Parts: sequence; C-alpha cells; structure tokens
Amino acid sequence: MSLFKKAKKTDKETAKEHGKCMLSRRNFLMYSSTAAVSASVISVNLFPGTAQAANMNARVVSYPRKKVANLSELKTNKPIDFNYPDDGPQTQCMIAKMGVQAGGGVGSDKDIVAFSYMCTHQGGPLQNTYRATDEHRTLGQCPFHLSLFDLRRHGIIVSGQAYESLPQVLLEIQGDEVYAVGMLGLLFGRNHNLVSG
Ligand code: FES
Repeated sequence: MSLFKKAKKTDKETAKEHGKCMLSRRNFLMYSSTAAVSASVISVNLFPGTAQAANMNARVVSYPRKKVANLSELKTNKPIDFNYPDDGPQTQCMIAKMGVQAGGGVGSDKDIVAFSYMCTHQGGPLQNTYRATDEHRTLGQCPFHLSLFDLRRHGIIVSGQAYESLPQVLLEIQGDEVYAVGMLGLLFGRNHNLVSG
C-alpha cells in the first residue's frame, strides 16, 4: 500500500474514532442553515478519552415550529399556500395531500408533503404549477426555463435548467394540525434559511 493510501486510511479511521460522519449536501444544509430562532446551550465532549478531552459549550439551534394547515381542510391534490420559515422574501411554500405515498410524506397514507415555491435555478415562481397524473406529482414547469420537480421523491429535478432539488419543508402532525418544523435544502436567494443566520 502506498504512503498516500495509508494516509487516507488513517484519516478515515481517525474520523471514525472521533465519531465524525460525512454529511450529504442536503443534510449539511439542513443542519447548517439553522440559526438563532430558538437556541439552547449544551455541554459536549468532542474527544472523550483522549488528551484533547474537554467539555465545551455548543449552541444548538432549530427551526420554528409553525402550524401550516389542518388535516381536515386538506383536499387531495389541492395545495394550500403558506410562508416558512418566516414571512420574509423567498419563503413562499405549498402543502399538498397528494393521494400517493411520497418521500418525507406524513399522515396515515404518508402522502402529505410541503415544498418551497421558489425554483432553485433562478427563483422562478412555481405557484399554480402543481400537477397530478396517475402516477406523478410535480411542481413545474418553471415559467422561466421549464424546470420540473418530482414531489414524490423529495423534490428532485426531473428536467430543465435547475440542478438543485426543491427545498422540502419537514412536517409533523399533532391531532388535526400540521406543523412545519424544518427544511431540507437552501431556499433560493438566501445564504441561510433563517434570516438571523
Ligand atoms: S428559474 Fe426556474 S428553470 Fe430557471
């Protein structure tokens, strides 16, 4: 084994020992885009059992929890609009009960999802572009450059100029109420999903 290969293996092993993990870009954005909407301080030890062991304070932040719909008002394939994570620019979103199971879907049929309306290419507005066919549920085509996003598969790009998935709003259900609690992906036009980030 070459020295280079040995060094790479050592880095990998070291990372494993320290409990680090490789994050996908979506996961990285999900976690790194959080900001000080609500925050708490916890004490962590990054390198337990080593010479570098020491307790440090880490700031834990999270998205707001916002009610966006009632289950009883969601009609199949009739999206409802809302803003998230705040009422600022680029925060227009939709929630839809799609009648078919979807990635990230909530509800008894796992068919309720929510997404940003802002096309990830250049921010084209996707309002009024929700489409349902026998098998597919999409947002698009974008009026600017025709991008189309698959809502059953976490908003991945199907065709067009965009190269990022549509940001998906994470949902939770409590009784008859549906709450937005986070977001996968970075909203178009923002450096952070949360203004104070
Ligand atoms: S802005 Fe939507 S495809 Fe270009």
